[in-house]
Amino acid sequence: MYGLINKAVEGLVRSKFGDSAWDRIRARAGLPDEPFISMEQYDDKSTYDLVAAASAELGAPAEAILREFGRYWTVYTAEAGYSELLRGAGKSLPEFLRNLNQMHTRVKLVFPHLAPPSFAVSEETATSLTLHYYSHRAGLAPLVEGLIDGLGERFGVAVESRTERIESSNGQAAHDCFHLSWKPRVGTSA
Ligand code: HEM
Repeated sequence: MYGLINKAVEGLVRSKFGDSAWDRIRARAGLPDEPFISMEQYDDKSTYDLVAAASAELGAPAEAILREFGRYWTVYTAEAGYSELLRGAGKSLPEFLRNLNQMHTRVKLVFPHLAPPSFAVSEETATSLTLHYYSHRAGLAPLVEGLIDGLGERFGVAVESRTERIESSNGQAAHDCFHLSWKPRVGTSA
């Protein structure tokens, strides 16, 4: 994946746990002490190794690290120069989720070798929907859960989510789906 991802993992660890925690995690993951370059492609393994090392150093399950990272990503990308892309994707949670593929297609203009996941929305009502998530990468459903948390905050709604693994059948690819429902957060007008 592009270095932007590992850079964000670094940003999350440094801001929440300090520079020395980051040094230990980076060393445990066997990565050199040099800055990640956003536009350079890194082996996916480096990201999985970072998550595993963070899990070991911080004593938290990898799923919790991924979920926290997902939340952080929605803020980090806005601050790292991609706020326009985020704004263009929608003004409400359901609109944004429907536009995720289009948003990553725009991201591809900046990161031409991007291999993004793909999403589909089904069973939509005024306050609920099912988000289907397809990726060739394994084990990242908790990341999407964190992204949904972060998007809930962005749009001022409290989101309840239930994750379901769908196995492949009748020509349908195996994937994770998220059954979401939301309501306005107390104290907001959204
Ligand atoms: C403007 C904001 C965003 C940017 C710049 C961005 C960019 C990226 C980049 C660079 C990757 C790594 C893929 C690769 O290098 O091949 C990625 C992966 C991913 N993105 Fe985004 N993204 C953004 C917002 C989002 C949002 C809001 C979601 C919410 C669902 C999302 C979901 C994902 C997921 C789940 C992956 C992991 C890869 C996979 O599942 O295969 N992204 N994105």
